[in-house]
Amino acid sequence: MSEGELNRGLEGIRVAETRLSDIDGEAGVLTIGGYPVAELARNATYEESVFLLFEDRLPTASELEEFRSDLAGRRAVGEEVRAVLKRAAEEEKPAMDALRMGAAAANLGAGEEDPEADARRVVAVFPTIVATYWRYRVGETPVEPREDLRHAANYLYMLTGEVPDEAAVQGLETYLNTVIDHGLNASTFTARTVVSTESDVVSAVTAAVGTLKGPLHGGAPGPVLDMLRAVHQSGDPEGYVREKLAAGERLMGFGHRVYRVRDPRAAVLEAAASEFYGDAEFFESITSFEDVAVDLLAEHKPGRELETNVEFYTAALLDGVGVPKELFTACFAVSRVGGWTAHALEQLDDNRLIRPLSAYVGDHDRSWTPVDER
Ligand code: ACO
Repeated sequence: MSEGELNRGLEGIRVAETRLSDIDGEAGVLTIGGYPVAELARNATYEESVFLLFEDRLPTASELEEFRSDLAGRRAVGEEVRAVLKRAAEEEKPAMDALRMGAAAANLGAGEEDPEADARRVVAVFPTIVATYWRYRVGETPVEPREDLRHAANYLYMLTGEVPDEAAVQGLETYLNTVIDHGLNASTFTARTVVSTESDVVSAVTAAVGTLKGPLHGGAPGPVLDMLRAVHQSGDPEGYVREKLAAGERLMGFGHRVYRVRDPRAAVLEAAASEFYGDAEFFESITSFEDVAVDLLAEHKPGRELETNVEFYTAALLDGVGVPKELFTACFAVSRVGGWTAHALEQLDDNRLIRPLSAYVGDHDRSWTPVDER
């Protein structure tokens, strides 16, 4: 084996400087573009959050209007992309597969664009890709984007065909602002790695979509909702958790590579989710399940500090807003594409090819055996 320390999973290794977000995993503090996550989540439109990441400052009113209208003008998808999304829906491919296919085609018809224009285009078009796929999935005609609606409102409009009420828009916007960026998580690292080869932004976000799909990253909130419903129905949270842990399963929505306390995004999303539950009994069962699960996880893995992560209340909030659970991970991507593109641009600004080493554990100097002698 060649020399050098092995670090599986790159845990604790810093490989890039960033001005985009900062995580204090011990204290449970998340800063995005200089603002505490709760401050951004509560006050920003999604367009302002993206501008903040791209420019490292908030836009003036006229800059915001210019940016909003530029994004709105980039929302449409072409017939070819629609055909692919229709086929994906007919074959009941997961939404993240459809998003990967749509994202890969995001520069069709765009002509020669620079990285900044590519970044704006993918941010603008992600909601249209997800909503178009979903409309086909439920046997409805896709809804054309409306340029007069803001990003979050237009997304809900394209999903349902109806202009959403302001409470739903704000709930979704809180979510989109909360998860827009989060340090060098796996999908963001992927995006930076792709552009570090001087490849393009569309390729970077396409690879990032594939990375986000997995249950150890963005794929958890759908299963979380199933779990919350099952527990509410059974009324036996302790029995549910004990059974899962005894079977060696991981409890979705708990644990984090960086946080050793409750994920600060959970508090933001919990507060927003609480406003949507007319069925207060269900929401109460969610919060009491959290307490039971955290206690039992502490018993299960003493010293590991397995606390609630962002996905737990993502499930509650998106369900409250009316987003179908099949789209939860795709909604995560609709937000995080702002972070991915901002990181890609930041990487390109001061690029160094990302190229780590592996530790070879195979043989050396084997001698070749011809096929008829094996
Ligand atoms: N339920 C039960 N046990 C757990 C959980 C969990 N949710 N999370 C970690 N553990 C256990 C592991 O099995 C491991 O035990 P072992 O040492 O006996 O193998 C121990 O705690 C340490 O866990 P690690 O694997 O070191 O944790 P890691 O930092 O690699 O994983 C992760 C973090 C992937 C988020 C993990 O906690 C997990 O799988 N959680 C459930 C899935 C989930 O909620 N995903 C969303 C993550 S948030 C996001 O990316 C947006």
